[in-house]
Amino acid sequence: MATEHLNFINGKKVPAKSGETYENRNPADQDDLVGVFPSSGGDEVSAAVEAASAAYPAWRSLPAQARGDIMRKATELMRERKEDFAQLETREMGKILKETRGDVQEAIDTGFYAAGESRRLWGTVAPSEMPNKMCYVTRQPMGVWGMICPWNFPMAIPSWKLFPALTCGNTAVIKPATLTPASVDAFVGCLQEAGVPDGVVNIVYGSGSRVGEALLNHPGVSGVSFTGSSEVGRRIAEVTGKTLKRCSLELGGKNAQLVMADANLELALEGVLWGAFGTTGQRCTATSRLIVEDGVYDRMLEMVVERASKLKVGNGLDESVEMGPCVSAGQRETVHGYVEVGKGEGARLALGGEQLTGDGYDKGFFYKPTVFADVTPDMRIAVEEIFGPVLSVIKVKDFEEGIKVLNGTPYGLSSAVYTKDVDRAMKAIELIEAGITYINAPTIGAECHMPFGGVKDTGNGHREGGWTAYEIFSEPKTVYVDYSGGLQRAQIDNA
Ligand code: UN1
Repeated sequence: MATEHLNFINGKKVPAKSGETYENRNPADQDDLVGVFPSSGGDEVSAAVEAASAAYPAWRSLPAQARGDIMRKATELMRERKEDFAQLETREMGKILKETRGDVQEAIDTGFYAAGESRRLWGTVAPSEMPNKMCYVTRQPMGVWGMICPWNFPMAIPSWKLFPALTCGNTAVIKPATLTPASVDAFVGCLQEAGVPDGVVNIVYGSGSRVGEALLNHPGVSGVSFTGSSEVGRRIAEVTGKTLKRCSLELGGKNAQLVMADANLELALEGVLWGAFGTTGQRCTATSRLIVEDGVYDRMLEMVVERASKLKVGNGLDESVEMGPCVSAGQRETVHGYVEVGKGEGARLALGGEQLTGDGYDKGFFYKPTVFADVTPDMRIAVEEIFGPVLSVIKVKDFEEGIKVLNGTPYGLSSAVYTKDVDRAMKAIELIEAGITYINAPTIGAECHMPFGGVKDTGNGHREGGWTAYEIFSEPKTVYVDYSGGLQRAQIDNA
């Protein structure tokens, strides 16, 4: 039986005032009902922001290390429940168990990192320009954070937001993606059990247009953290720009793996298969372009097509499956739409290009691993984010052209270069316009203690993940302590 879920506001389960609900079903098997969730709106958001504001003074007054201890306890609970959480995630999101175990592990890593970081919320001390005076910077929480989450990392990405925000002393209202609400429910359940006080974390379920918009526009919210499309990110930046709220945006990607002729092609092959078809290509870090130097292009293409054609697609709960479904019917349509665009643009369809039907496939949103060959850099399938199992393979004549093509999209999240030439690798690191560059490793695989994010249309300069996340969720406070006993005027008395 599917569980009926309610919003979580001020420590209590609260239905949507409208009484409306929606169903959360398994994208691999639409007969599998994962849960029923409330379709909430502005009223629930207001109640949640009020609760978060009321809980804020006491939460921010706790020593950071005490907050960190609660994060640690919550993380221990997550570790105990890892397998159950992974199963739940696979059911609601579709990616295979190996990957949902990784997703839960990423949340666990982020939680333990937060517990440690709570003892290290460092500021800076600098000498003063005046005698008998000191200057330092300390970090302070900001109030209530609104968090709007994507569906592709149902537990890891909410954890990137909640763990550091709470550790810094903020309170939060989180809106899970409508497609993957159960994972956030499970995660927040651990926080609550570990002792996070009522009102410190609140969940409001529902659509972006109602819950997301209400959260964004609420005057009681001090900052908004969003992971999702660049289109929605622009809307969020517009509203928070007008109201002068901080906003952290983690948006689209069109990541490329560049393979030079001297590369270990077997290694490059493993990298691109994992990068392009892992999570069914539904990662902002997915490898959606394979850029190959002329001398090894035909060989690399042949290797990729051969191996991709053998990937076992199916329900992610089956351990032998290598690629799950698209997350929804709509997502699969978008993917197929791009395949039509690619064909129309004259790219050569080397593999896939259609949905999977027949036994075991009719109840889900399965799509064949798809490879386009002879893609030119100006084609839409070489420039726009597809978010599905579609790889565009592009031939370049040399390193310089490879870098130029790699940089030729509006996005700049992740990138990978396969070469054995250390000089080339270093030059690539210097020239690539992306927030993340991998050398001889695929475009996916970010670690929780390192800054994560991108340049250009991928974001607005913030990096969730690592210590930089703690800069997003706190305000610097500059302190001057004058122990001279007299009035000292900087810039005047010592001129
Ligand atoms: C995302 O693609 O939305 O590096 C996040 C990775 C993961 C995180 C991806 N650790 O692919």
